[in-house]
Amino acid sequence: MHQPVLIKEVIEFLAPHPGGVYVDGSLGAGGYAEAILEACSPDGRLLGFDIDEESINRVQVRLKTYGERFRCWHAGYHESKAVLETSGVDGVDGIVLDLGLSSDQLEDPGRGFSFKFSSPLDMRFDRTKGKSAEDLLKCLSESDLAKIIYEYGEEPRSRRIAKRLKEATKKGTLTNTQELSDLVMKTVGYKRSKIHPATRVFQALRIAVNDELGNLKKGLEDLPTLLKKQGRLCIVSYHSLEDRLVKLAFKERARQSERWKNLMPRPLRPSVEETRQNPRSRSAKMRVIEAL
Ligand SMILES: C[S@@+](CC[C@H](N)C(=O)[O-])C[C@H]1O[C@@H](n2cnc3c(N)ncnc32)[C@H](O)[C@@H]1O
Repeated sequence: MHQPVLIKEVIEFLAPHPGGVYVDGSLGAGGYAEAILEACSPDGRLLGFDIDEESINRVQVRLKTYGERFRCWHAGYHESKAVLETSGVDGVDGIVLDLGLSSDQLEDPGRGFSFKFSSPLDMRFDRTKGKSAEDLLKCLSESDLAKIIYEYGEEPRSRRIAKRLKEATKKGTLTNTQELSDLVMKTVGYKRSKIHPATRVFQALRIAVNDELGNLKKGLEDLPTLLKKQGRLCIVSYHSLEDRLVKLAFKERARQSERWKNLMPRPLRPSVEETRQNPRSRSAKMRVIEAL
């Protein structure tokens, strides 16, 4: 099961209290959600969102014992403002976002997030709608694909990779994650000491398929406005593109109005002990803003 990252720190900064109302915008396996419900017992509430229907179904089972204290929606955190307003929620005491994907998604061979398995090129968090990675590879032009690989994967050899991917897509020889990984490796080579060359291409496609940065920008606009006084928004991110957006949005909000305090001009990182126990946490960065 997914091991929550920076969970002690999230709870410390969110400081859930009895009677409070909290939002977990990206439930995943429900690790943060459960910890928040425990911390705000006996009567605090947790409202949760995830765009992955399977995650919602699993978390509903995991958190069943909390009864009406827990409610969730199969919807994005970027849509949560409208959902909460129509549900009559008038301000919340804290919000947490844990970006990216869960280990459950990464390790599910059917989802296409990992090049360790041979799976269909899907990569959608929400499998009920949208274009899969295979659809995207087919419909993007070579130059748009190169741009995505360059910008979202921070891969300098993006043009060469995009050319080979488009050729293979046209020939019909690019239909699964193994073929994608092999082709990237053949195109740019592999040095054992470096990260696998497909890592960046997989990251880029996943970000594009799920419009992760677009959703984050919308969330950064909407979510702070849901906070009551002294309410905090904690965001845990896993790569520099996300962290940059969070950093700039929090800094700008605090600069424009005294209503906001940027509690972490420098991000909080996991301890050496946590990265040893859970290597997935190594790239995590947490930032927090408070409504004054
Ligand atoms: C890292 S996991 C969260 C793990 C969680 N904190 C836990 O303790 O189990 C990220 C989750 O965010 C979900 N997700 C990604 N984009 C989302 C969005 N825009 N809105 C809601 N959920 C999203 C993914 O489906 C995934 O389940």
